[in-house]
Amino acid sequence: GPLPAGEVGWQAPSNIALVKYWGKRDGQLPTNPSVSFTLEACRTSTRIAYSPLEQSVKGPRFRVFLDGFPAPDFEPKIRQFLERALPYAPFLSGLHLEIRTENSFPHSSGIASSASGMAALALCLVSLEEQLLPGTDPGYARRKASFLARLGSGSAARSTAGGLILWGEQEGIPESTDLLGVPYPGEVHEVFHTYHDTILLVDKGQKTVSSSVGHGLMDGHPFAAERFEQARRHLEKLGGIFASGDLEAFANLVESEALSLHAMMLTSTPSFILMKPGTLEIIEKIRDYRRETGHPVCFTLDAGANVHVLYPEASAGPVYSFIREELLEHCVSGQHICDRVGSGPQPI
Ligand code: PMV
Repeated sequence: GPLPAGEVGWQAPSNIALVKYWGKRDGQLPTNPSVSFTLEACRTSTRIAYSPLEQSVKGPRFRVFLDGFPAPDFEPKIRQFLERALPYAPFLSGLHLEIRTENSFPHSSGIASSASGMAALALCLVSLEEQLLPGTDPGYARRKASFLARLGSGSAARSTAGGLILWGEQEGIPESTDLLGVPYPGEVHEVFHTYHDTILLVDKGQKTVSSSVGHGLMDGHPFAAERFEQARRHLEKLGGIFASGDLEAFANLVESEALSLHAMMLTSTPSFILMKPGTLEIIEKIRDYRRETGHPVCFTLDAGANVHVLYPEASAGPVYSFIREELLEHCVSGQHICDRVGSGPQPI
């Protein structure tokens, strides 16, 4: 019979990788495992109103609205996502979707919305499946959402739950899989749930390397094999750090990961220099401040110039004063986002 009409909605958070994902294999599978903090403030909210298509029409058909306005620019990425998801969500072929989405952070901020956006969309598809085919087990639903989110954007696989998320197979961790993100299964010291991430907007320009081009740069990259091994070693070492709460070791490892990510871009063909002078000024000041005060603040980077400043709640007072007094001068009009480790997606 014809499918019913209805509505589903989710808000999903962004995440920041501690061990980075850079390089992928066919099927949106990572070439090395990665681990991230789920964020709280940077979120995408997505509602999907669905209705049945005429039997003769083959779907999925859809329209996308960003902040209430038609957003045709987003359609190719969403079309690709829905096509990849279709084999796992065949009911989509009978539906028209009206997708309404908004971000808690400015679209032009240089903060990527693909992780939160694709995670929100994937969670919506799983809810839609539950409405059409009731009785889906909720534990299975979250795993399926991460599996589907991965098909839209790899890092989105790490945005369908809160806390620390591991995506990608790692020796010695039987729960780990390339197919989806899982809550980090090892022991995690309480301090890591108190981390702040203050995101400094150093450059709000569009990224000069899209992540699909970026991952492609690792095919045939002269340092690829060593980089993938380094990520595995770092993840193993991070296991001990998560358990012990050794924040100095954490700072050194997280910064090394950020710099390795940029080192891959600096040495690929073509090469990309994504850091700006302000990025380097901030990095230097953070390292000086850590050495001089002992506060375990560190930085990490995405594939862009903005800096994520990571620090535990116990250091938040002095570190935030330091950020205000020393670092905001390197941001576009002092702009920054105060974020922290979050508890994961919410239905809306
Ligand atoms: O999810 P993608 O394909 O946009 O790749 C994200 C890659 C980095 O953000 C640079 C690193 C990571 O692990 O999130």
